[in-house]
Amino acid sequence: MALKVGLCILIIVCITTGFCDAGKTSSYTRSSDTSSDMPADAFPSPKGSNAPEQVHITQGDRGGRGMIISWVTPNQRHPNVVRYWKANDPSDVYKAHSQIFSYRYYDYTSGYIHHATIKKLEYDTNYLYELGSGDAVRQFSFSTPPRPGPDVPYTFGIMGDLGQTYASNSTLGHYMSNPKGEAVLFVGDLSYADNFPNHDQRKWDTWGRFVEKSTAYQPWIWTAGNHDLDFAPEIGEYMPFKPYLHRIHVPYRQSGSTSPLWYSIKRGPAYIIVLSSFSAFTKYTPQNDWLEAEFKKVDRHETPWLIVMTHAPLYNSDNYHYMEGESMRVLFEPWFVKYKVDLVLSGHVHAYERSERISNIRYNITNGLCTPIKDQSAPVYLTVGDGGNIEGLANDFSDPQPFYSAYREASFGHGLLEINNRTHAYYTWHRNQDDEAVVADSTWFYNRFWYPKDETASF
Ligand SMILES: *[C@@H]1O[C@H](CO)[C@@H](O)[C@H](O)[C@H]1NC(C)=O
Ligand SMILES: *[C@@H]1O[C@H](CO)[C@@H](O)[C@H](O)[C@H]1NC(C)=O
Ligand SMILES: *[C@@H]1O[C@H](CO)[C@@H](O)[C@H](O)[C@H]1NC(C)=O
Ligand SMILES: [Fe+2]
Repeated sequence: MALKVGLCILIIVCITTGFCDAGKTSSYTRSSDTSSDMPADAFPSPKGSNAPEQVHITQGDRGGRGMIISWVTPNQRHPNVVRYWKANDPSDVYKAHSQIFSYRYYDYTSGYIHHATIKKLEYDTNYLYELGSGDAVRQFSFSTPPRPGPDVPYTFGIMGDLGQTYASNSTLGHYMSNPKGEAVLFVGDLSYADNFPNHDQRKWDTWGRFVEKSTAYQPWIWTAGNHDLDFAPEIGEYMPFKPYLHRIHVPYRQSGSTSPLWYSIKRGPAYIIVLSSFSAFTKYTPQNDWLEAEFKKVDRHETPWLIVMTHAPLYNSDNYHYMEGESMRVLFEPWFVKYKVDLVLSGHVHAYERSERISNIRYNITNGLCTPIKDQSAPVYLTVGDGGNIEGLANDFSDPQPFYSAYREASFGHGLLEINNRTHAYYTWHRNQDDEAVVADSTWFYNRFWYPKDETASF
């Protein structure tokens, strides 16, 4: 009884003071810079004959001892070799050969796209690698992650919907100026080639050259978005994700997946599940079957942080793309809550938003229970579709701000997730108009398995 009275008083206080309406719509006024694409000549091919270009790397195995090295040679298939060695032991040089792919799309023929998987790397080690030959040798470097374990610190950058505008360049430059990020969780929509006539595939090439300054040096963990579909029957292009699947290779087989569009990896303290919003995911489909089996494989004693990536957000309060993640939410949200997913990262909406821990899994058609509720077993949903692509900002938020939305702002930027140990991760979001040191939104995330502390600031 006393509890009920207390609750009533609390509710009355909330209603009269508005104190409980904790969500923040940032009043920050962004500049009205248009985000036009950078010209192709801002990203010339590197010097030398048949020089390797568009170099990008991603984790190449389940646990972080492999790397897939990808690059394009414009004129000739060969050389198709990557030479690599430990930075502190240059006398011991290893070699791996690439598999070579190319594709045609409408009137375009790609260069030779190389994917080489290098294996049995040592954990927590700096490597150098070299591509090309003759006058076109190019050297890069990367660091391997620590062996997966509950208390190894690791920091991920978070970006999405990047494109190749001046704003995109600002986002990437800001991220790179921060020494903390060790790998990027990329939530989909890469080049935006499909915004140009006949999905101008040269835009994929300029994009590969644009992002190389980061993608050649640290792994980007890839998610596919709708702008990566390039499905265009009107010009005879019927294969969904054709350019994406040729250009991006991921270690999907190691997680038992049958498609590169959904897969998982373990990296340091994190178990990362990548989903495809634009592939079939209803019951009985390959993606659904795979995900159901996948959650059972997660060992939070080995990888405490469970992170899901998907392009279309399941919770977002912007009027752009509103409810496009709804069918996936109906199917997958019960698992996210049951298995205590820490974070769901998405893009698609060209703005930034962070949710409260909420769920909406009680509804069964007839019971009327169709409103989200606070749920400390539920993930936080982050929408980071604010990379800065040619389509501009999604600045039409629903009003009033729904209670499930903790912070939202229509500015370009990127996120950073600093995992300290099995219980604590510090998360920040940085808008492009500020110096990287300025933190526009920040919060501690407490691990849902090891330390499911109530994260709600005022409720
Ligand atoms: C992209 O940003 C970098 C700084 O991060 C700058 O040096 C470069 O000039 C920019 N490129 C273009 C085309 O604006
Ligand atoms: C739906 O929920 C209501 C209320 O909890 C319950 O009575 C009903 O049996 C449920 N229907 C089904 C099909 O589970
Ligand atoms: C985990 O990290 C947090 C934040 O840095 C710290 O306060 C806490 O003491 C750490 N836990 C352990 C067991 O070291
Ligand atoms: Fe999108």
